[in-house]
Amino acid sequence: IAAEETETTRERKTRRTTMPEFRAETLDDFYKPCPNYRLPAELGAFSFDDKGVFQHDRSQLRYYNPPNQPSRLSMDLKVGYDGYVPKEKSGSPDLGPILRWISLNGHCFRPRNEPLSPNNGTSAGRASAAGETAVPTRLNETRPDNLLTNFVVWRGMLCKMLCSLYNQTEPWKVAATLYNGTVYLQEIETEEKRRQEAIMPPQQRATCYWGLKFEDYVTSRDPPAKVGPQSPTVPQQLAPGTVNPHRAFSSVVRTRMNSHSIVMVGEVDCCEHNSKEKSPQSYVELKTSRIILTDRNKASFRRHKLMKWWAQSFLIGVPKLVCGFRNDDGIIKSLQSFRISDIPKETQVDLTMWQPSVCLNFLDELLVWIRKTVIIDNPKVVYLLEWNTPYTRVTCEELSPNSEYVILPDWYLRKKSP
Ligand code: A3P
Ligand code: MG
Ligand code: MG
Repeated sequence: IAAEETETTRERKTRRTTMPEFRAETLDDFYKPCPNYRLPAELGAFSFDDKGVFQHDRSQLRYYNPPNQPSRLSMDLKVGYDGYVPKEKSGSPDLGPILRWISLNGHCFRPRNEPLSPNNGTSAGRASAAGETAVPTRLNETRPDNLLTNFVVWRGMLCKMLCSLYNQTEPWKVAATLYNGTVYLQEIETEEKRRQEAIMPPQQRATCYWGLKFEDYVTSRDPPAKVGPQSPTVPQQLAPGTVNPHRAFSSVVRTRMNSHSIVMVGEVDCCEHNSKEKSPQSYVELKTSRIILTDRNKASFRRHKLMKWWAQSFLIGVPKLVCGFRNDDGIIKSLQSFRISDIPKETQVDLTMWQPSVCLNFLDELLVWIRKTVIIDNPKVVYLLEWNTPYTRVTCEELSPNSEYVILPDWYLRKKSP
């Protein structure tokens, strides 16, 4: 009760100052050449184990390992749903794991000419995946004051911002804090989202599981066995494991869009075995989608799914996506690979559908506005940014210090890992 009272008192005390908006009334303002977007480079990675506990390693990175002959298989996505226990809380991911990774990897944020301190840690995790080196563990590492980056954000939040103009029914809300020259962006779950989750029909809940089950069928924990092109006829992938909603592998990348340097973290489904590319260019995104039967299905697929798929993978530099097309009974009927860079070409048949340049110009200008608006460099001050009806502007409120939205924990401000 005491804690509740404190929260309520704090809420009452929070002063809100309305700031100038970022206006985006028409798409026309954003039809321009694409902003420069640098190929993302991976700084490192982390995992969540089967209990959802942060691991400073690559242990949950899986290999893309599809059945050799999908046509001879039955991938039934319903298998295992009866015993499946979804995550209890499915709100917006918080920055905690990212901050933890940053605090353990201060050496990634020092200016290039500054010498590294001797590595006092040991290699951790499975170094073998995609031929990459393991994330070094440097215990007691101190984070530098300045990360030399403008933004730290989960990829999912950036993806929502990127697609805003074409999502006129999907609000988002984000808490922004400027600390030592870096804007940290923390997604806040909207009321609409909470309501939708609460009333989600059982069939839709089941299809959420189907996507994870698909990942289970077409990936493996260990590298695929080397098999000749004609044999064996029965793939080794027929013994699927159990779907665990907590397990995940996340890649930490650095990229730049025009003048904005961005440190972004995104969950990655799997990697290609023996890829000659460095991560994240060796990663593969997996999706499921209903089989396309009519022209209408096709238009909707291009307009909605392909835009989100492109946005999600493009941002973090994942070049390839594999979709399992399923019927209404959850049976995979075919697999199809997409090059992310080819997706815009596929939708260019109808220029009114969506355009990458419009999305990227919107995001670029939004980030310019955020940097001009979020200017008090104080970890206790939060700015609330919101995209909502009538979907023509992003609004901003500056909250007085120590509001209930403060996003950077005290341990992070002390510069040591927890
Ligand atoms: P599909 O996208 O194939 O439906 P991701 O594709 O982002 O890696 O997500 C993997 C799967 O997690 C999704 O597969 C879906 O099943 C589930 N999923 C992703 N986002 C979700 C959400 N917001 N709510 C419920 N399930 C979600
Ligand atoms: Mg995923
Ligand atoms: Mg996926």
